Amino acid sequence: VSDGWNRDEFEALDQSDPLRHLRDEFVLDDGLIYLDGNSLGALPRATVARLRQVVEQEWGQGLIRSWNDAAWIEAPQRIGDKIARLIGAGDGEVIVTDSTSIALVKALCAGIDARPGRTVILTEDANFPTDLYVAGGVAELLGSRVVVRIMKREELFRPLADDVAVVMLTHVDFRTGAMHDMRAISAAAHDAGALMLWDLSHSAGAVPLSCMDDGADLAVGCGYKYLNGGPGAPAFLLVSRTLQEAARNPLPGWMGHAAPFDFSNDYAAAEGIRRFLTGTPPMLSLLALESAIDLWLGVDMAAVREKSVALTELFIHGVASMCGDAMELLSPRDPADRGSQVSLRHADGYGVIQALAAAGVIGDFRAPDICRFGFTPLYTRYVDVFDTVERLSRVIESGAYREPRYNVRATVT
Ligand SMILES: Cc1ncc(COP(=O)(O)O)c(C=O)c1O
Repeated sequence: VSDGWNRDEFEALDQSDPLRHLRDEFVLDDGLIYLDGNSLGALPRATVARLRQVVEQEWGQGLIRSWNDAAWIEAPQRIGDKIARLIGAGDGEVIVTDSTSIALVKALCAGIDARPGRTVILTEDANFPTDLYVAGGVAELLGSRVVVRIMKREELFRPLADDVAVVMLTHVDFRTGAMHDMRAISAAAHDAGALMLWDLSHSAGAVPLSCMDDGADLAVGCGYKYLNGGPGAPAFLLVSRTLQEAARNPLPGWMGHAAPFDFSNDYAAAEGIRRFLTGTPPMLSLLALESAIDLWLGVDMAAVREKSVALTELFIHGVASMCGDAMELLSPRDPADRGSQVSLRHADGYGVIQALAAAGVIGDFRAPDICRFGFTPLYTRYVDVFDTVERLSRVIESGAYREPRYNVRATVT
């Protein structure tokens, strides 16, 4: 794009975009610019039809028979295997059933079990709060066996102490979009004898991932963000093969039993990843997620990354030239260090996001002053970048963000 900042050039980029056809796979209002797929992904058209079929036929007609006849019972592992392909994990290493927070409990306990004698969960203060709460809760449950050590990002790169059992980090930071070097950090954890647990909530479907090659022993990630699984979609849990046999599920339940329908009073863990199930899986949510994942399996992640970098670069460039220094870039300037979101700071960020929403652009706000814009290459157009920058500069110039109606805080920001 030339320095002239011309909408025609953005239209031309859309015309030659190899992912262009994918927008039609989603239910999206043409007039709406949706830059919040990093929080809640859009609704795939296939999910509408699939859920109708699940509800009317599999549940409505099939009833209890569908656990066998429609292979519901296999869904957590089947969908896990599909997600494994998307994130570079192996068959039988991923299962899908709980929220990310619950999956973290299971991942942390599996990691601590696998490193007897080590007492520390190491993490950083910028981690997503649920990760910190869960780690604290796990440490409390395990009593004096385990403590949580919370470091600043720059301290992570010092040699690790030999008491660390698990290093737990979020790969792409939810506030800033900054991306850790997965391979280098996993290798440093391994060099110190620790295991590596990655939260991939802002990575899966956003950036190419090679969990196995890059040393993720354990991982979790949301199903409802870039994966487009639907509000509250189940998360995925990865436990690498080498850890599975010795790993215990801290929340053992009948669905993770080797023979649930024997109804034995003695718990015997299932073989492999299935032992990480607890109760009955949420079937409607799982099958909604599966239809979204099926869409992903036909998508080239390298092309997604290429478009993601192009969209975010154009946005950063546009904001710098159209909004001056009114919006401060919080995300890393180098795309190699960034996921698929751009975060900008503004003292009245909440009002900015609300005024933009009124102008047909949906981003979101994270306290205290962060405006987040998620660029999901499957359905974001290049012209959306142009139009967002235009509208953002108008919101800033006009001072519309100061209007009281844009400054009434809703529960969800
Ligand atoms: C990095 C990260 N981890 C965990 C969560 C929470 O996931 P859940 O609500 O599925 O427990 C989120 C939610 O936004 C997140 O961004």
